[in-house]
Amino acid sequence: MSAAKNIVILTGSGVSAESGVGTFRDKDGIWARYDYREVATPEGFAKNPALVHSFYNERRRRLPGVSPNAAHVALAELEAGLAAKGGRLTLITQNVDDLHERAGSKNLLHMHGELLKAQCGVCGDVRDWREDLSTDIVCPACERTGAMRPYVVWFGEMPRFLEESVAAIARADLFVSIGTSGAVYPAAGFVSEARGLGVPATELNLEPSANALLFTDSRYGPATEVAPAWAREILAAL
Ligand code: APR
Repeated sequence: MSAAKNIVILTGSGVSAESGVGTFRDKDGIWARYDYREVATPEGFAKNPALVHSFYNERRRRLPGVSPNAAHVALAELEAGLAAKGGRLTLITQNVDDLHERAGSKNLLHMHGELLKAQCGVCGDVRDWREDLSTDIVCPACERTGAMRPYVVWFGEMPRFLEESVAAIARADLFVSIGTSGAVYPAAGFVSEARGLGVPATELNLEPSANALLFTDSRYGPATEVAPAWAREILAAL
């Protein structure tokens, strides 16, 4: 098989787990401690915005205290290595943390939004936001009070960059999924998109995901071990 030069990678919370950022569906995961309907849906926000703000404020406050791990760094180095040889890496992440950026990834699509941004529910203004959000916050753009929300895609809302993601997969010669349970669509459907187009698909995860059988190759273990080893193989084959 010729060397993969145009790669699309999808990451999930498993890639940030070893940095100390919580996953969702592991036994001690976020959804074992919170009801997603109360803190990650538009209905939950309408019903109890203070609870939703406290859920995201706690996670936003933790971000400066965590660092990118060897998996984030390996993906950033792979992007640079591919570019140096005329290749391209498109990194689609379900994660709302900023660890891929801090590791140096550039061609990055946050399909579920970003914890360090906020959006006004009235005027739609989106801006960087590192402090706590609350119902007392005044929108800097339209000066409405109480309409600011985390720039995060909630259940029932449309994920972002879907057209760009499908277009990137259609151009790819390899699709790779790292650290995701394959439980949430449309992200979990990307592997079917790739396979339907004849694009080979690799899964790197701690354990087989829900759609593990759809992948043509799989490596299981902690992301900080399997992702750097896999990235080294790709770069060596260029
Ligand atoms: N290394 C590699 N994989 C790991 C590690 C690790 N150290 N730790 C956990 N994993 C794997 C788990 O085995 C699991 O398959 O990461 C996956 C995490 O799955 P989820 O907790 O379901 O997280 P994710 O797939 O990112 O969830 C997708 O669901 O709640 C929504 O919007 C939220 O973006 C999130 C989406």
